Amino acid sequence: MTATAIIVLAAGLGTRMRSARPKVLHEAAGRSLLGHVLSAAAGLPPRRAVIVTGPDTPRVRDEALRFMPDAQTVIQTERLGTAHAVSFAREALEGFDGVTLVLYGDVPLIRPETIGALAATVEAETPMAVLGFDAADPHGYGRLVTDGKTGALLAIREELEATDEERAITFCNSGVIAIDNALLWELLPRVDNANAKGEYYLTDLVELANKAGYRVACAECPEEEVMGVNDRAQLAAVEAILQDRLRTAAMKNGVTLVDPSSVFFSADTKLGRDIRIEPWVWIGPGVEIADNVTILAHCHIEQARIAEGAQIGPFARLRPAADIREGAKIGNFVEVKKTVVEEGAKVNHFTYLGDARVGARANIGAGTITCNYDGFFKHTTDIGQGAFIGSNSSLVAPVKIGDGAYVGSGSVITRDVAPGALAVARGRQVEKPGWAEKFRKVMRRRKEKG
Ligand code: UD1
Ligand code: CA
Repeated sequence: MTATAIIVLAAGLGTRMRSARPKVLHEAAGRSLLGHVLSAAAGLPPRRAVIVTGPDTPRVRDEALRFMPDAQTVIQTERLGTAHAVSFAREALEGFDGVTLVLYGDVPLIRPETIGALAATVEAETPMAVLGFDAADPHGYGRLVTDGKTGALLAIREELEATDEERAITFCNSGVIAIDNALLWELLPRVDNANAKGEYYLTDLVELANKAGYRVACAECPEEEVMGVNDRAQLAAVEAILQDRLRTAAMKNGVTLVDPSSVFFSADTKLGRDIRIEPWVWIGPGVEIADNVTILAHCHIEQARIAEGAQIGPFARLRPAADIREGAKIGNFVEVKKTVVEEGAKVNHFTYLGDARVGARANIGAGTITCNYDGFFKHTTDIGQGAFIGSNSSLVAPVKIGDGAYVGSGSVITRDVAPGALAVARGRQVEKPGWAEKFRKVMRRRKEKG
C-alpha cells in the first residue's frame, strides 16, 4: 500500500456560525468537527498530517494534537483561496513520497472507507483523483466536467466561471482530493487567481494535470457524507446524521434501544453487548458501558464507566469519573461525581456522591449527601464495604466509614466511624406526654380573647 499524507483545511472564518469559537471546534456527537475529520483519516494512517488554520487559533492546534499527536499545524495568514491554503503545507510535506489527501475541517461526516478508497485510486497512470457527489442542488459547488467516453475528469468549473451548460451538471466537487505528493507541488505554483473571485482555486489543479498529460480520476460518494457545516442549522443536521449512525451501530452490536430517536451517544461511546437503554438518555463524551447494563429512562451520563450488570436510573446523573462497578445500582435522582461505587453496592434514591468510594455491597440510604466541598477544597469520603448509611445522612468530608459500620438515619457525620460500629449524630429525641392537648387548649383560649 502507498503511503499517505493529509492536509486539512481549517482556516475558514465560520462567520455564519456567529461564534467566538473557531468553526472546526464546534461539536457534534461530543466531538469537534476537526476531531471527526481526523478520526476518519486516522485509519489510513497518514504518515504526515498538516492542519492549515487561521491566525490566532491555538485551540485548533491543541485539538488537532489530541487526535493526531504528530500533526503539524500551519497558519494561513491571509485567506486567498483553497490552493493558497494548501500551499502553506509545502514545507511540512517536503520530500514525502506518496499520496496526499486534501480534506476540509468543516466536512465531518466523511467515512474512513471513502478516504481510503480515494487514496487507493491514485497510481502511476492516474496520479490524481477527486471525490464527487451528485448534488440535490448543485448551486455554489464546483461542477465536475468529465470525458463522456472514459469517465476521466477534465476540469472542475466553479459556479461563477461555469457556462449555462456546465451549470446544469449535478455531479459536484466535494473538495476532497487525492494526488501524488510530488505532482501536487509541481502543479500548485501554476495556479493563478485570474477568476471571478480573485482567489487561488485548488480546483484548477485538474485542468493543469490534464494539460501536463495526466489522467485525473473521480470517485463518487453520497451527498450526505460531504455535507459541510457553515451555520448552526447545518451543525444540527450533522448531529442528527451522526446520532443515526451511532444508534444503528449500537443496535447492530447487540444493544437494545427501546426508542432509538431519544437516546444520544457520543462518537467515542464504548458499548458492550446485551445493554438495554430506555428512552431519553444522554451519553456525553468518555463513556464506557459493559455487558448486561440496564439504563432506565431519563439519565445524563458523561465521562463515566459502568461495569457489567450494573443498573442506572431512572433519572440518574453520572458525572466525570463516576466509576460504577459490577452489579452496582444507582437509582433515581442520584448524582455521582469522581466516585467509585464498588461491586453490588446500592445507591437507590436522592443522593449526592462526590469524591468518594463506596465499598462493595454497601447500602446508601435515601437522601445521603457527601459534603465534599468547603468552599475552597474538595475532600474525600471513604465508605467501607458492607457499610449501611441511614437515610438523610450528611457525611462531612474528609471522613471514613469503616467496613460494615452503621450510620443512624439523619446523622451529620464529621468524624471517622470504626469498622462494625454504629454512629448516630443527631439531636436526642425527647417526649413530653400530654403536651399536645395542653398546647391546643392554651392556644384556643388566646384566639377566643382575640
Ligand atoms: C470549494 C471548492 C468547490 C467545492 C466546494 C465544496 C474551490 C475553489 N472550490 O468551494 O469546487 O464544490 O468547496 O464545499 O476549492 N479554506 C481555507 N482557506 C482559504 C479558503 C478556504 O482554509 O483561503 C477552507 C475553508 O475553511 C473550507 C474549505 O477550505 O473548509 C473550502 O472553502 P470554501 O470557501 O468553503 O470553498 P467553496 O467556495 O465553497
Ligand atoms: Ca463551502
